[in-house]
Amino acid sequence: MSIQQSFITLSDGNVIPQLGLGVWQATQEQAANAVSEAIKSGYRHVDTASVYENEDGVGIGIKQSGIAREEVFVTTKVWNPEQGFDKATAALDASLERLQLSYVDLLLIHWPAPKMDLYVDTWKALIAAKKQGKVRSIGVSNFNQEHLVRLIDETGVKPALNQIELHPFLQQNTLQQVHKKLVIETQAWSPLGQGKALSHPTIIAIAEKHGKSAAQVIIRWHLQQGRIVIPKSVTPSRIQENFDVFDFSLDLNDLEGIALMDECHRFGPDPLLFP
Ligand SMILES: NC(=O)c1ccc[n+]([C@@H]2O[C@H](COP(=O)([O-])OP(=O)(O)OC[C@H]3O[C@@H](n4cnc5c(N)ncnc54)[C@H](OP(=O)(O)O)[C@@H]3O)[C@@H](O)[C@H]2O)c1
Repeated sequence: MSIQQSFITLSDGNVIPQLGLGVWQATQEQAANAVSEAIKSGYRHVDTASVYENEDGVGIGIKQSGIAREEVFVTTKVWNPEQGFDKATAALDASLERLQLSYVDLLLIHWPAPKMDLYVDTWKALIAAKKQGKVRSIGVSNFNQEHLVRLIDETGVKPALNQIELHPFLQQNTLQQVHKKLVIETQAWSPLGQGKALSHPTIIAIAEKHGKSAAQVIIRWHLQQGRIVIPKSVTPSRIQENFDVFDFSLDLNDLEGIALMDECHRFGPDPLLFP
């Protein structure tokens, strides 16, 4: 089967499918079914985390799909209490065991957790794991400019990407400019605003104009702006719908309309204050 989709080359030379499946809040069983369904629909990229408690399900879903392991890009993350060199190293081993994989394609520090101040040590563990072949690429999540610059200054190794909350209500233009300058890819979490952006009149009007769904319009908006995007669904019809976004384009008017939806509104916590 030839699959229509798009890819981004990370600064370390590895290639990531631009559109993936998120599985936050999916149970083990839901994750297994969603991952298997997604792979059958054409997805080649799954985003999980140790704190989601569904890595076993993700591993089962990959096996159930029948696809070769190296065909799928798998991301997991180091949770806050797992930070620090030794704990992060052990956490990765535990994630690999749950996923039933010998390596992950991408490992992220889930939050900078600045009050713990362990993210540089944790980063050193990720660098070591990459050297050992347990991960292909390493990155971060929810980092701001100051955290990114500190990692690079203290280790000389930059994250391949920063996974941040980003949707029409929180467009993060300043941080995206920082990423561009540092040559770090932007990955959008809660890309549909946790489903809440789907009923906005601007999105609905654009969807009607193109004969597409609201979710397809928002996913297309992320893709056209060069971001990596990981919408979550455990519903087979939505999983398929969210991948059917490579046959249309938003025009300048559409993009201008969505730009006006930015309210700097977070659904998740402020990375400076969490945990
Ligand atoms: N790094 C971080 O700190 C962080 C934080 C949050 C999330 N994430 C990652 O980002 C992923 C996505 O974020 P998210 O799960 O918060 O929210 P999201 O992808 O913005 O939205 C998911 C919600 O939208 C619904 N939905 C999906 N497709 C739809 C469609 N076509 N039509 C109508 N409703 C649809 C889903 O319902 P159903 O599932 O019921 O179909 C679910 O309720 C997560 O799963 C996780 O992998 C990372």
